[in-house]
Amino acid sequence: MHGVIGLKVIINCAMSADGKIATKNRRQTAISNDTDKKRVHVLRNSVDAVLVGIGTVLADDPKLTVKAEYVQSPKNPIRIVLDSKGRTPPEAMVLNGDAKTLIVTATESVTEFSNAEMIRCGSGRVDIEELLPMLEERGIRTLLVEGGSEIIWSFLRHRLADEIYIFIGSVIIGGDSAPTPAGGEGAFSIDEAVTLMLKEADVIGDGVLLKYEVGR
Ligand SMILES: NC(=O)c1ccc[n+]([C@@H]2O[C@H](COP(=O)([O-])OP(=O)(O)OC[C@H]3O[C@@H](n4cnc5c(N)ncnc54)[C@H](OP(=O)(O)O)[C@@H]3O)[C@@H](O)[C@H]2O)c1
Repeated sequence: MHGVIGLKVIINCAMSADGKIATKNRRQTAISNDTDKKRVHVLRNSVDAVLVGIGTVLADDPKLTVKAEYVQSPKNPIRIVLDSKGRTPPEAMVLNGDAKTLIVTATESVTEFSNAEMIRCGSGRVDIEELLPMLEERGIRTLLVEGGSEIIWSFLRHRLADEIYIFIGSVIIGGDSAPTPAGGEGAFSIDEAVTLMLKEADVIGDGVLLKYEVGR
């Protein structure tokens, strides 16, 4: 947890054996096996909120709810989308009313959404350092960041994540431009790289789950 704030942030993602989280045209592709999908739904069910970036909403249109096939009597966490300019399509699944949704835009955005609460935070782009205490004020104590690539890098770069879980599926996706778990600008030097402490490595069916604590 972060010094002054008591909000625990876990990042979870699935990557191929060659370190890609989607195809080169940024399309979602099968990486996880069924046992790992169940693990993700159980994890989602255990947190107060799940968060993705607008890039993931536009590419994958995820529901971000907990499937009853994996969890008995699921309780859906709040869905949070970081969307500085308010580009979430009105027909996006995150706005389907199945769970509470929070769209976070930058202060300049005037977009309003039915079926979602709004938070405006940060000039030009959502400021996640400013956002986390605002989420904590709303009673969110555990946050699961589910992607995509740019958002994960932002949380890591600002040292705002406590843990990162990476599932490695038995598939090679290839392609120089296919997204990796942490995209964005990336580190310019090794000093800016984010160090991790490996806490657990488990074989899950035909894949491997690595659980790391994120260094400060
Ligand atoms: N395998 C997996 O586990 C997994 C999971 C999720 C997604 N994915 C894949 O990841 C890809 C999407 O990743 P992506 O990098 O394109 O998009 P993303 O990380 O989902 O969203 C990035 C966008 O979020 C917005 N944003 C708002 N505040 C931000 C902040 N503080 N820092 C960074 N971004 C912020 C920015 O757009 P604005 O400036 O307009 O706000 C930014 O372009 C897709 O291919 C998807 O399939 C894979």
